[in-house]
Amino acid sequence: MAPVAQRVRGTQDILPADQPHWELMERAAHTTATRAGYQKIATPIFEATDLFVRSAGEASDVVAKEMYTFTDRGGRSLTLRPEGTASIVRAYFDGGLDQEPQPVRLFYLGPFFRYDRPQAGRYRQFHQFGVEVIGEGHALLDVEVIQVGWQWFSELGIGDLGLKLNSIGDEVCRPAYRELLRDYYRPHLDTLCEEDRIRFERNPLRLLDCKVPQCQPLKAKAPRIVDHLCGPCATAFASVKGALEATGIPFELDPSLVRGLDYYTRTVFEYQHGSLGGAQNALGGGGRYDGLAAELGYRSTPGIGFAVGMDRTLLILKQRGPVQPEGLDVYTLALEEVDQVHALKLASALRAAGLRVVLDPGDARLDARLRKAARRGARVALIIGPEERAHGEAVIRDMTAKTQVTVPEREIVAAVTQALAGA
Ligand code: HAM
Repeated sequence: MAPVAQRVRGTQDILPADQPHWELMERAAHTTATRAGYQKIATPIFEATDLFVRSAGEASDVVAKEMYTFTDRGGRSLTLRPEGTASIVRAYFDGGLDQEPQPVRLFYLGPFFRYDRPQAGRYRQFHQFGVEVIGEGHALLDVEVIQVGWQWFSELGIGDLGLKLNSIGDEVCRPAYRELLRDYYRPHLDTLCEEDRIRFERNPLRLLDCKVPQCQPLKAKAPRIVDHLCGPCATAFASVKGALEATGIPFELDPSLVRGLDYYTRTVFEYQHGSLGGAQNALGGGGRYDGLAAELGYRSTPGIGFAVGMDRTLLILKQRGPVQPEGLDVYTLALEEVDQVHALKLASALRAAGLRVVLDPGDARLDARLRKAARRGARVALIIGPEERAHGEAVIRDMTAKTQVTVPEREIVAAVTQALAGA
């Protein structure tokens, strides 16, 4: 009979063999974020659909094509979160974080959902580590945030990383630039790809994100937003670049970096890695979103953050080969069925003493069970046979030296600990 269901397209299992890499990423996130004074936050997996429509923007790919939206039994339109920033801004106000000393520095880890075209490094359920700094707009915070992300990658030993940087202005200078871009593209509309013709109408800034070969010559000569920033945006961008240079993080200015979500103002950036290739080379990205809180109906409040893709980073970590999982200390087995419960009790006493203990409830031959113990990486086997049981004893076998000793039961914890020290 065929299984009733298969893994849903675009989802993946993070199997035990990949968990050491995964835990490495989680630990590095905790370390780098808390070292810089960031506090952990978790928000719901689903939110009111409007939250994402208003924040990412109706014309963004995320809202137009990629959201998992459903109506619940109460008739509400809900959406599985496609990204974290909008939820964090909502939680910042909902949870009264706006009343705390500013800025508030937050980090989060978890799954996100987009109806993307699945391929290596692109999934429908994926995972991000992200940070957000909300409540103060100083340009140094842009650099702090960029540095936290950079530090995460170096904590993981990932070199060969590129940082792309741009400023996309704000509500003062961007509208005029948008018109300038339209004026530039208008005479060439019939040479553009279909997607670009839609972008021209709905979201001209995204014209700069087009990867279609036929559109590249035109894009290369398009007016650059960095040449049309208003005074305050230009000053902020100069500060960011100056401070970034001082940190020693190498970066490349990319005037066509515009990002896929509409809430950004001023600084935008992406971490890229050569080995992934194609559209999946962005390991992470972020930027400033000073207009987002007001767009969501809250008091105008500046913010900046990034998110890195853990699934893409996992692909890079896996290229380095497997990480040895933490092995077992003790493999416990009873030779006869009547002694199983006794073995269970001993295993539990050893666990209470802090050891990693697996109980084998099987009835296979001893040599087969010892082979299993070796495959599980156990350093010591604890064997309870009828003889030992009768005398209130147990056998401790050193799996490496293949030697064994018989010890009284009341000394088992001490004897196993000693055997492990020598194993
Ligand atoms: P984003 O660029 O949409 O930004 O996503 C950040 C990262 O998440 C990407 O660079 C990529 O590594 C990963 N990612 C996105 N979509 C997928 C997918 N379908 N499969 C695998 N990985 C994916 C944001 O989400 C913003 N919230 C970042 C931010 C935080 N901006 C300010 N604060």
